[in-house]
Order: sequence, then structure tokens, then C-alpha cells
Amino acid sequence: MENAETTNNTEMNTGDSSPMIVAQNLVKIYKTRDIEVLALQGLDLTVERGELIAIIGNSGSGKSTFLNMLGGLDTPSAGKLFVDGCNLFDMTSREKELYKKQTVGFVWQNNARNLFPYLSALENVMTPMLLTKEKNRRERAEHLLEIVGMSHRKTSRLAELSGGEQQRVAIAIALANDPKLLLADEPTGSVDKDTADRIFDIFRKLSIEMGVTVVIVTHDVRLSKKVNRVVAIRDGRISSERILREQYKDAFSAQNYSWGNEETQDEYVILDRAGRLQIPDKLLKKLELEDNKVTVGYEGGILTIKNPKSAKEEKEQGITE
Ligand SMILES: Nc1ncnc2c1ncn2[C@@H]1O[C@H](COP(=O)(O)OP(=O)(O)O)[C@@H](O)[C@H]1O
Ligand SMILES: [Mg+2]
Repeated sequence: MENAETTNNTEMNTGDSSPMIVAQNLVKIYKTRDIEVLALQGLDLTVERGELIAIIGNSGSGKSTFLNMLGGLDTPSAGKLFVDGCNLFDMTSREKELYKKQTVGFVWQNNARNLFPYLSALENVMTPMLLTKEKNRRERAEHLLEIVGMSHRKTSRLAELSGGEQQRVAIAIALANDPKLLLADEPTGSVDKDTADRIFDIFRKLSIEMGVTVVIVTHDVRLSKKVNRVVAIRDGRISSERILREQYKDAFSAQNYSWGNEETQDEYVILDRAGRLQIPDKLLKKLELEDNKVTVGYEGGILTIKNPKSAKEEKEQGITE
């Protein structure tokens, strides 16, 4: 964070210890003829190298907008975004093209966007390499299909594969150019539970074994319980984070750990740089507020937020007792 803040030029400190993603106060306003939509409202997020994180949030909360920005497909109305030490909003168009080709890989929910139906799985994976200097295209494509568990169907045409199998080929394609950052927008959105697990295991393997930084947008609460870190976006901002408890850290790296329904993560509300936080709805309801005012205090080492009415009552009782 500090690195990005104090550096105004294109390059941030690119030592390997620098974060993979630093987003600062990202704002995105979509203007259509009659209305303006605030898709991102000051989003801050730092993701370390090799992390696998899940992003969750209601429909329309800004998840895809953020992912598209990370992928170099969209620009913000304000804010900063550094990926792998590069300032994404201060690149020439040539640098942007290189970034899209070399640094990021993208997997969408609708895999038709990544695939050619009449080519074989192998040919599909080789296609993006035609634009690069990669010499051993076939070998590399075969290796990638092995990583995603699709070697046995390499000669099948895409149209002959199931949705989940196509999705695995799409992941191999996204990996074709050896990206440091893999972005997946609801990659398990249209497959069954077992297939979702298999796809998720591939992402985990990429993160653990190959050090790829993976950002997955998902609706799947079950899958999101299995990652080290889940960030929730609400109204275009990070509102809370869930972090895997210490006792589950080994389970995250283990291939065949059987995850139950238990709570595996601790939840934290995120304080932004101006000291603002979004109080979870269910807690706010308990205050039974009549308007938008609360009383904030500090009692015995605890910061308190109270309904002004009950705060006043407590005070009066304190005086009369
Ligand atoms: N190209 C666009 N033009 C206008 N509004 C858009 C566009 N893309 C997204 N939006 C709006 O921005 C908000 C966030 O959208 P999006 O990032 O797709 O949310 P999510 O992926 O979390 O469902 C929504 O209100 C959506 O309607
Ligand atoms: Mg979306």
C-alpha cells in the first residue's frame, strides 16, 4: 500500500515481496443517456502474490466491473490500480496489450467466449500461443490439458464436451501464456456441484503449486468457505472479509480434505482509509434506529455504536442511581 501511495510514476517497487494487486479508491461511474450508475464507490484491496481469493457479493455490487479492470478491459472514473507493480491506468496501448497477453488470464462463466467449438481441445489451447514466441506449442498445450485433467479428451472437438469439461479447457487456455494473475468470473456458475469442486481444485492447485495469484468471483458459498480469504463487495466497496482459521490452513493445501458445513473462517468488517465501515445489516437492525443517527462511544476498551435513545436512557440511569 505504502509503496503505491508514495510513487506517482508507472513503476512501483517490483520486488517479489510487493503485492500482486493494489487497488486504491477505485471509482467507476457508468453514464448512459438518462442515468449514472455508481458501479465502484472507492474500492480498496490488496492481494499478495500467490494468494487465492474469492470475491462474493450481490448481483450488481460491482464484482465484474472490478474484475474487468484487473483484466485491463475497462478503465475507472477515478482511483489507482497496480498489478504486478505496474500502474494499469498509466500504460500506453502497446503496454496494455502486452499486459493482457502476458500478465493476466481470464476465465468467464460463459466459456463460449474463450473457445472455438469446431477445434479440438488441444487446438483450442494452442491457439493463443500462435501470437507468442512459444516454440513448443503442442507440448505446452498437452501439459496444460494434463494440469486441468483433460488429457484424455484432447482430440475431442469442443462441441463434443460437457459444460464442465469445456470450462476446464477454458482454464487451460487462460493459462496458455503463463499468466501471473488468473481471473475467473463465476467460473462454476453453470456446472453441477461435483464439477464445481473439480474446477475449484484446479484453481487451488495453480495457486499452491504454481504460485499463480487467483481471483475468483463466485456465488457459491460452499466453495468460498474453502479459501484462505473471501472479500465481500457491497455497493462497489469491500465491506467485509472472511479469513480461514488457523486450524484449517493445512486443509486448504491438502488435496483431499473433506470439508463439512462448519464455519471455517473468521469474519471481519473492513475499515476504509477514511475510517469508514459498513455495519452488517443484521447487526444494524438490532439497534432499531428511527433515523440515520447513532451515538458512538468508547467504554472499557470497546468502541460502541448505540441507538441515541438507549444511550440517553443509560446515561440518565447512571445519573439517578
Ligand atoms: N456497461 C455498463 N453500462 C452501464 N451500467 C453498467 C455496465 N456494466 C455494469 N453496469 C452496472 O454497474 C453495476 C455493477 O455491475 P457489475 O459489476 O456487473 O456487478 P456484479 O458483477 O457484481 O453483478 C450494476 O448496477 C450494473 O447494472
Ligand atoms: Mg458479474
